[in-house]
Amino acid sequence: MERHFVFYMLCYTILFHFLAHNEATPWTSRQCQQISNGYDCSGMDLQFIPDEVPNSVQILKFSFNYLPALYNSTFQRLNNLHSLDLTRCGITFMYEDIFKDQPDLEVLILIGNPLVFIASRAFSGPLALKNLSLAQSKIKSLSDIPSDNLAYLEVLDLGGSDIRSLDGLSSFHWQNVNSLQLDMNSIDRISQTDLQPIHNVVGMSISFKGNDFVSIEPGAFQSLNLSSLDFSGCFRKINFSSILRGLEGITTNKLNLGLYETDSNVFIPSAALQSFCKILVTDLDLQLQHFLDLNNSTFHCLEGLKKLDLTRAHLDSLPFNMIGLSNLSHLVLDENRFSDVCNINTKNFPMLTHLSVSGNLKPLGFSNRCLESLRVLEELDLSHSSVKLKGPCCNDQLFGLSELKLLNLSYSLPMVWSSQPFSASPQLEHLDFSHSLYALNDSSPFSNLQSLRTLNLSWSNTSLTNMHIFNGLKTLQLLNLKGNPIQGGVLSHAELFKYVPLLETLILSSCKITAFEENLFKGLTQLRQVDLSENKLVRLSTSGFYSLYSIQLNFASNAIVTVDVGSIMNFGKGSTVDLSYNPLVCNCSNFQFINWVKKNTVKVKHLMETVCNATETRIIDAKLQCEFPVGIIVFIIILVVIIIASAVFCLVRRIRRYSRYTLL
Ligand SMILES: *[C@@H]1O[C@H](CO)[C@@H](O)[C@H](O)[C@H]1NC(C)=O
Ligand SMILES: *[C@@H]1O[C@H](CO)[C@@H](O)[C@H](O)[C@H]1NC(C)=O
Ligand SMILES: *[C@@H]1O[C@H](CO)[C@@H](O)[C@H](O)[C@H]1NC(C)=O
Ligand SMILES: *[C@@H]1O[C@H](CO)[C@@H](O)[C@H](O)[C@H]1NC(C)=O
Ligand SMILES: *[C@@H]1O[C@H](CO)[C@@H](O)[C@H](O)[C@H]1NC(C)=O
Ligand SMILES: *[C@@H]1O[C@H](CO)[C@@H](O)[C@H](O)[C@H]1NC(C)=O
Ligand SMILES: *[C@@H]1O[C@H](CO)[C@@H](O)[C@H](O)[C@H]1NC(C)=O
Ligand SMILES: *[C@@H]1O[C@H](CO)[C@@H](O)[C@H](O)[C@H]1NC(C)=O
Ligand SMILES: *[C@@H]1O[C@H](CO)[C@@H](O)[C@H](O)[C@H]1NC(C)=O
Ligand SMILES: *[C@@H]1O[C@H](CO)[C@@H](O)[C@H](O)[C@H]1NC(C)=O
Ligand SMILES: *[C@@H]1O[C@H](CO)[C@@H](O)[C@H](O)[C@H]1NC(C)=O
Ligand SMILES: *[C@@H]1O[C@H](CO)[C@@H](O)[C@H](O)[C@H]1NC(C)=O
Repeated sequence: MERHFVFYMLCYTILFHFLAHNEATPWTSRQCQQISNGYDCSGMDLQFIPDEVPNSVQILKFSFNYLPALYNSTFQRLNNLHSLDLTRCGITFMYEDIFKDQPDLEVLILIGNPLVFIASRAFSGPLALKNLSLAQSKIKSLSDIPSDNLAYLEVLDLGGSDIRSLDGLSSFHWQNVNSLQLDMNSIDRISQTDLQPIHNVVGMSISFKGNDFVSIEPGAFQSLNLSSLDFSGCFRKINFSSILRGLEGITTNKLNLGLYETDSNVFIPSAALQSFCKILVTDLDLQLQHFLDLNNSTFHCLEGLKKLDLTRAHLDSLPFNMIGLSNLSHLVLDENRFSDVCNINTKNFPMLTHLSVSGNLKPLGFSNRCLESLRVLEELDLSHSSVKLKGPCCNDQLFGLSELKLLNLSYSLPMVWSSQPFSASPQLEHLDFSHSLYALNDSSPFSNLQSLRTLNLSWSNTSLTNMHIFNGLKTLQLLNLKGNPIQGGVLSHAELFKYVPLLETLILSSCKITAFEENLFKGLTQLRQVDLSENKLVRLSTSGFYSLYSIQLNFASNAIVTVDVGSIMNFGKGSTVDLSYNPLVCNCSNFQFINWVKKNTVKVKHLMETVCNATETRIIDAKLQCEFPVGIIVFIIILVVIIIASAVFCLVRRIRRYSRYTLL
């Protein structure tokens, strides 16, 4: 009896052990996802609020469901609702008292519903509805929105509706509104009386983007004080002068008068810009516009302007001796057709701190001393402009830019660096030379850049055989060396990084690295992120790092087959490793590693892409064949012990009995 019991217990234990480990993920129906303070029930074809949403929910995302009509009972039990998103729920009717029991409702999103009827008491209930979006909801008139219960509104979004005029503006309470979106409607005229209701509101942002205005009464915006005003893409049926005449008398921080790619060409006559003498604006956007007759007085009314965006404004030069714009701090001239930086005539902008000439549509020359007058320039972006230099880079070109902190010369044409090429701008903090080839004249080009914090030399054919290249970069925190092939594949020379003791991020991906020297990174005590992805490493080695306490190691897309668990076992709380897209083998040789991964999922980045090479199954789902024999072996050993024990027992009994018989 006893023997049988022990045997069954053993079988049961082993069976249970296996069952528990092979437990399939429980079948799950689609359910609302819990998010912080709420639930997300988007896109589930629901026609009512499901029971799993508790009464206490504060945030409910319910977009892409089906609620053709909203009644006083629809949300009745959700008394603590604070934010409700009903984007594209096919709502056509909104009846009375829908939110009667939701006093705390502040955000109501009704984007993309084909609303036909909104009862006058539809919004009654919430004490202070602040954010109401009716964008793309086929609203035909502002008067169709019951405004009685919207006294505390801060954001009203009516973009992409069918609104044809500003009639009905007067029925709203505008005191608290800071954003009114009327973009992509069909408003065709604005008169001074239309805007009377918002006259005393200060600091509002209004967007009329994409409306096809036919007329705007001159001075319609007179004495309005806004934070931003957007008239971009509004020039199909009205000329630039007429819009600006309408804006005369306004004060606004930002003004957008730009175009979009789909708009037809607009030509701004210099005379039209005279209206700016009666407009107070600090930040102006004129992207994609054409200037009809640009001359030295075109911008003479923009003395107060701080930021000007002339992206793709079809410019090949700016006038020599301009009047106006002398207070400009930010100038964006991206995607124009300058043949040389000199043609910008930057001495017109002595206060400039930020200049961007990115994506120039033809190779951009950079002649000597062109920017000399920009004494306070801090950021210069010449990226993607195929900058071409006549002489060596960069001291003659950067002459005078002693305050420069950021220089972006990525995607330039090949150039030669003089010795200490950046000594004209010794305060540089960020240097981006990605995708630009250069030839060195001196083994330590950065030796005077004591403030440099980020250096991007990716895809620049930088040779790391020059061990002194980083000499002087005492404060460097980020070094990007992606895409620079290492000769011979083995990264050695610990001296290379001895110059950059404060390095935190090192990017060495796509460098054709097959191995690196053990002590290469030992001196980098601050190292937090190392990207060695897309190389040819066959081994995950961590012994070369100063500390594994808090470090992010990226070994993705290498040739690592097995991982020695010892190399990652000592990872601290903040450390992670990325081993995705490696040909990892899922057999007993990797058993310990795979086990570690299963127990330390938070320390493995891109877990879903970390798969077994042969089967493409994810490492965490790998069925370990090594565990089975262990169980069986234990089982067999126990069985053998039992059999031997019982055999001995039987034998002893027999011997005793026999000896008893013989005694008799
Ligand atoms: C909801 O509205 C219906 C008809 O409009 C009304 O009879 C009913 O009493 C209302 N229910 C609540 C809870 O207010
Ligand atoms: C209003 O709500 C929308 C949707 O939640 C959000 O994107 C927007 O930022 C909110 N606006 C403000 C000013 O809170
Ligand atoms: C506009 O309003 C701001 C406050 O938002 C105020 O500082 C400024 O003086 C006002 N400008 C005019 C012209 O009223
Ligand atoms: C702009 O349009 C107005 C009204 O249609 C017209 O009087 C004016 O001459 C136009 N100005 C230009 C520069 O075309
Ligand atoms: C600039 O152009 C405008 C318009 O063509 C013209 O009236 C003005 O006289 C020109 N100014 C100068 C200084 O050439
Ligand atoms: C612009 O700069 C000039 C001096 O160049 C100065 O007199 C004027 O007050 C400034 N205007 C504004 C609006 O800052
Ligand atoms: C502007 O250009 C005109 C002729 O094109 C010239 O006479 C005038 O001196 C220039 N103004 C300035 C400030 O250089
Ligand atoms: C340099 O310009 C490129 C392209 O515009 C951009 O992606 C990159 O982030 C810039 N670099 C810096 C350091 O700002
Ligand atoms: C390179 O250095 C040599 C010697 O220091 C100097 O004569 C030569 O002009 C330099 N070339 C460039 C392009 O700076
Ligand atoms: C250069 O590298 C830095 C840091 O990785 C990055 O922010 C920047 O965008 C890169 N520049 C380009 C042109 O990709
Ligand atoms: C990159 O540098 C190596 C020598 O370091 C040179 O042989 C090769 O031609 C360079 N490639 C380009 C595209 O300049
Ligand atoms: C990984 O799998 C591919 C094909 O699935 C095979 O060609 C390759 O040899 C495997 N690599 C290793 C290291 O097993």
